[in-house]
Amino acid sequence: MKIAIIGTGYVGLPTGVGLAELGNQVVCVDKIAAKIEALTQGKVTLYEEGLEELYLKHLKSGALRFTLDMREAVDGADVVMIAVGTPPHPVTKEADLQYIYAAAEELAAYLDGYTVVATKSTVPVGTGDEIEAIIKKVNPAADVDVISLPEFLREGFAVHDFFHPDRIVIGTDSQRAREVMRRLYAPFADKTEMLEVSRRSSETIKYASNAFLAMKIHYINEMADFCEKAGADINEVAKGMGTDSRIGRKFLNPGPGYGGSCFPKDTNAMAQMGRKFGAMLNLIETTIAKNDERKLEMAKRVAAAVKHNPEAKIAVWGLAFKGGTDDCRESPAMQILEKLLHYNRNVTVYDPQAMENARAVLGDRVSYAADPYEACAGADIAVILTEWENFKHLDLEKLKAKMLQMQIMDLRNLLNKEEVCRQGFCYSCIGMKN
Ligand code: UGA
Repeated sequence: MKIAIIGTGYVGLPTGVGLAELGNQVVCVDKIAAKIEALTQGKVTLYEEGLEELYLKHLKSGALRFTLDMREAVDGADVVMIAVGTPPHPVTKEADLQYIYAAAEELAAYLDGYTVVATKSTVPVGTGDEIEAIIKKVNPAADVDVISLPEFLREGFAVHDFFHPDRIVIGTDSQRAREVMRRLYAPFADKTEMLEVSRRSSETIKYASNAFLAMKIHYINEMADFCEKAGADINEVAKGMGTDSRIGRKFLNPGPGYGGSCFPKDTNAMAQMGRKFGAMLNLIETTIAKNDERKLEMAKRVAAAVKHNPEAKIAVWGLAFKGGTDDCRESPAMQILEKLLHYNRNVTVYDPQAMENARAVLGDRVSYAADPYEACAGADIAVILTEWENFKHLDLEKLKAKMLQMQIMDLRNLLNKEEVCRQGFCYSCIGMKN
């Protein structure tokens, strides 16, 4: 099939590459000339494990093309996917739909023959109706179905998730559109749940899923606070809860709060929708407020650990919003760091992937280290803020020799407490008596 993808970000590019691998002819269109130039020349514009290899394969084969020209992408396409950003409005926190509407208006003119226009971007309930109205206004003769096709890819695992989806949600009442989507996703038919629902249900599924996961994280963080007071161990509690298949093991890792470009944005947008429709979403409202508070609490906890010494050197490990990505957007690590800087603390940072993105925000307000050991040279405390796998396997002997005070605060519960204490470190983590 011929597929047009509008937007070449964290959703559009992996989706385009994945669809090319499934045997489709894919044209990706974007407004940013530098991105299209790089992608046309074989330079992948974002890091995702396994992406570059597949991208280069299909760029060479001609199955994957990039253009600035909407007509070239949309003309003759069977499916047009909208995958542009929906950033939060700075004041209302509602999803800003200007890029979605601009894309709908522009693509409408070039529709040719029956086309399915599928919204991959996360959009508030009812946006499909608006997109349809815009297309019909620009091109009343267009033979088109506008559907919701939410994306569930995780950053850092986008390629894996594309080929191993838990479900594919197709939001439309049109049988014709459903048949086109069944053909497109036929390679997944016997291994993945294919859900055909109404457009509004589909739009809601995306928000309801992200908000539920955010709530699950808030829940385990609240339990961690409880365990600290009650003398229980959150790692044991999470394991005990997670073995109940109705609860599940995933997303029960306590930490400094959730972040990233999706959960904070989508929980806020969902809460805003609840207010708009007059159906208050109290659990989500609380999750948002408590998650914000948590990051502040964690910064206070770090500062309190070195309160006797205003000059203390704090080594921070991890800046990205989670392990496996270079993305610092809405990163709890960055927010905690900002608070520490607000307290005039002396901080040296290290992250395996996110140093460049962090530097753009932090500038010369912190010192940068080439590895976790260098970050700890002369440090009074090392603080783990991001769940990078390699932080689990550090050489504690080497660390000992570097640090001024042997103190580790592990806000991701990554390290083995017994082992770290055996080496003589003063160790604290989340959700247990330290
Ligand atoms: C999230 C969803 O997991 C995807 O399904 C969805 O497609 C995506 O948003 C989106 O809407 O585009 P992502 O933002 O990449 O994916 O990140 P997650 O892996 O979900 O992690 C989000 C945050 O929660 C991170 O800060 C992470 O450290 C934190 N987290 C996650 C925890 O603190 N504890 C956990 O147990 C799990």
